[in-house]
Amino acid sequence: MTEPTTIFHRYLNAPHIFRKDREILRPSYLPEKLPHRENEIEQLASIMSTAMRGGRPSNVIIFGKTGTGKTAVIKYLAREVQRTEELVEKEVLDIPDMAFIYLNCEIVNTPYGILQNIGNRFIKDFSSMIPFTGWPTEKVYNMLVSKLDESPKIVIVVLDEIDKLVYNSGDDVLYYLAKINDDMKNSKLSIIGISNDLKFMEFLDPRVRSRLSEEKMVFPPYNASELKDILEERARLAFNPGTVDEGVTAVCAALAAQEHGDARRALDLLRVAGEIAERSGDRRVTANHVYAAKDKIELDCTAETIKTLPLQSKLVLMAIIMHGEQGRNRLTTGEVYSAYAELCDFVGTKPLTQRRITDLISELDMLGIINAKVKSFGRGGRTKEIQSSVSLKDAKRILMQDSDIKEIGDYRLKQTYL
Ligand SMILES: Nc1ncnc2c1ncn2[C@@H]1O[C@H](COP(=O)(O)OP(=O)(O)OP(=O)(O)O)[C@@H](O)[C@H]1O
Ligand SMILES: [Mg+2]
Repeated sequence: MTEPTTIFHRYLNAPHIFRKDREILRPSYLPEKLPHRENEIEQLASIMSTAMRGGRPSNVIIFGKTGTGKTAVIKYLAREVQRTEELVEKEVLDIPDMAFIYLNCEIVNTPYGILQNIGNRFIKDFSSMIPFTGWPTEKVYNMLVSKLDESPKIVIVVLDEIDKLVYNSGDDVLYYLAKINDDMKNSKLSIIGISNDLKFMEFLDPRVRSRLSEEKMVFPPYNASELKDILEERARLAFNPGTVDEGVTAVCAALAAQEHGDARRALDLLRVAGEIAERSGDRRVTANHVYAAKDKIELDCTAETIKTLPLQSKLVLMAIIMHGEQGRNRLTTGEVYSAYAELCDFVGTKPLTQRRITDLISELDMLGIINAKVKSFGRGGRTKEIQSSVSLKDAKRILMQDSDIKEIGDYRLKQTYL
């Protein structure tokens, strides 16, 4: 007698590629070791240890491209500070009172929010906490100073993604934080600012800038062999033994290193490759799963970009796709424009001028959705050669999700083009 099966059996009986906890490959997971960041950790630990000896550590600014381990290193140090505090509680260690406060400025991005968040860490009594809004910023600052200075302590404030704070609300709060030591008798505060964008420094008042960057650190991008070490460490924890082909981590590392050595990207490739293997019921993760993962991640990213385009750009893209569907791939701006104007007519919107459309074409090119090469022909004549750089079918499917233009799907261009 054959056993009854359900539609879920195939999945339930699939070999387990991941160990129980696939979170290990997600960015929120903090590993015990951070290979190839030993020097950066040492350097920061040495700066911070000044606090443990009762002095104010220098303010530090950390730069590095995305995925170079900036946040991971800081979280690692936060965990070490916590472990140190546990030793102090057990009276194994004797160091001055210390607080390590991590704020992500993508989430807390106003002067009020920053000061309130720091201040409230030092207020035990819920009823006397600084409210979320309503006080003048000056009052929040004064409260912060008085609470911090009540008893001697050293406070290290990490402002991750500090550029977001500056772009959102200028450098006021940094000015306050940089001068706070002048207003305190007992305590000291120092700042660690983190950013992947150097430009924001230009927006700072020169005094704030020089105070903030008493020490500067740059986290270099990882190369392929460093990424491979990072991945191997994680793969051992995340996958069951024998489920990952030799060479898989090297392929993920090589692909990520081709861009700019982003560990987040490398880990995403590995995780998505594992998920694809598991979903297809394969016993092992292979290099082919990694290539499939690359395509999937790129498509997800393209989909996100296309979905958020303004209507006019969507119509331009649609015009390019429709030409492509009819076998015309190297288009001039004029050809794209006529098809675009037809589509505008069809959806009942007024077409923009050809000049504006030329700009939108350049924007789409910059986003990597289309490819627009300037081509010269004879006697100084120049035109663009435009084609979609993503699969027509995928791009169209994504565009059709927009309710404003979904009727266009079955439209056929009227104009005949040579
Ligand atoms: N040396 C390392 N060892 C192990 N994992 C690492 C290492 N460096 C980075 N990672 C991992 O890579 C991912 C991205 O790192 P992280 O979040 O620290 O990047 P970041 O430099 O803060 O980037 P962004 O500028 O985008 O915020 C995280 O999952 C992190 O755990
Ligand atoms: Mg980060």
